[in-house]
Amino acid sequence: MSTTTFAIRRQAPQGDPYWQTFALEIDPGQTVLDALNQIKWYHDGTLSFRKNCRNTICGSCAMTINGRSALACQQSVRAELANSLTPNQIAIAPLGNLPVLRDLVVDMTDFWQKLAAVDPYVSTAARQIPEREFLQSPQDRDKLNAAGNCILCGACYGACNAVEVNAAFVGPHALAKAARLVADTRDSATPERLSQYNNAESGVWGCTRCFNCNTVCPVGVAPLDRISEVKQGILATAPVASRNQDRPLRHRQVLVELVKEGGWVDERKFGLRVVGNRFRDVAGVTSIIPLGWRLVRRGKFPLRFEKSAGHAQIAAVITAVQRSSQLAR
Ligand code: SF4
Ligand code: SF4
Ligand code: FES
Repeated sequence: MSTTTFAIRRQAPQGDPYWQTFALEIDPGQTVLDALNQIKWYHDGTLSFRKNCRNTICGSCAMTINGRSALACQQSVRAELANSLTPNQIAIAPLGNLPVLRDLVVDMTDFWQKLAAVDPYVSTAARQIPEREFLQSPQDRDKLNAAGNCILCGACYGACNAVEVNAAFVGPHALAKAARLVADTRDSATPERLSQYNNAESGVWGCTRCFNCNTVCPVGVAPLDRISEVKQGILATAPVASRNQDRPLRHRQVLVELVKEGGWVDERKFGLRVVGNRFRDVAGVTSIIPLGWRLVRRGKFPLRFEKSAGHAQIAAVITAVQRSSQLAR
């Protein structure tokens, strides 16, 4: 047993947030959820947080621990002390990107509504099977494993940079579910789905590829990888909406082009080249101005860009791949 300080961001309904600290005698092998229970049971019964299974199953206890979305029942006190910038202290706050109802409890309405927006059910037509089960091969079922693991905890949504600046973006949880349905051989609405998810703001192209969702997901859904699968599906089929007709292809081309130029993506140029089509699409340029302004206000717009170490080698690899694919044609 040792003494650990827990700094908890608290907030009454309609009140202002403030930090309160609790010093606990706790075994470092216990979880952050054990610590919260100890505070609630023995120090302050008014502390509010969600929990249920205590086993990384229900997804209820997602919160921000030491600045990172995580499940309180999955993180040990020992591991979080090792992560903490303040010695012997663990900071706990509510999930990001969702309004606080009280203390660590957030209002998940947006999260659920955005999940509903991707039509997260196998299409009705496919389910009308009167005589027998709709069988899948083990290989087809395996394609659903990663996205099927989602416990809808909200950790990815709370950490998503795109959600923070673009309220229309449906979020990594919803797009992971979308990918699961696109991959499901029982679903008969794939073209309609790909058309729906092929949207620059709400759909897959709204993702800024920040990788946060992959980093924080407690069960290995890897939402960014799932989003990439949907993009591949869109690119492999004829685009539907005429205005967006070239945009998905441009998205891929500009991504390669910028990585070739600098070793990684210069986000200052990305939107202008993809959405604005290098200033040829005036409506596109105009459409991203509000997003750019929100990024600047939140300090998320990169003012400078430095090429990555080894960018010349990266460019050489890309050039070699491009040449070999041209030769193969
Ligand atoms: S994708 Fe992962 S982090 Fe996001 S809601 Fe599902 S389980 Fe939670
Ligand atoms: S990679 Fe995309 S979906 Fe995932 S957290 Fe970043 S912006 Fe959101
Ligand atoms: S209490 Fe169920 S996931 Fe943590």
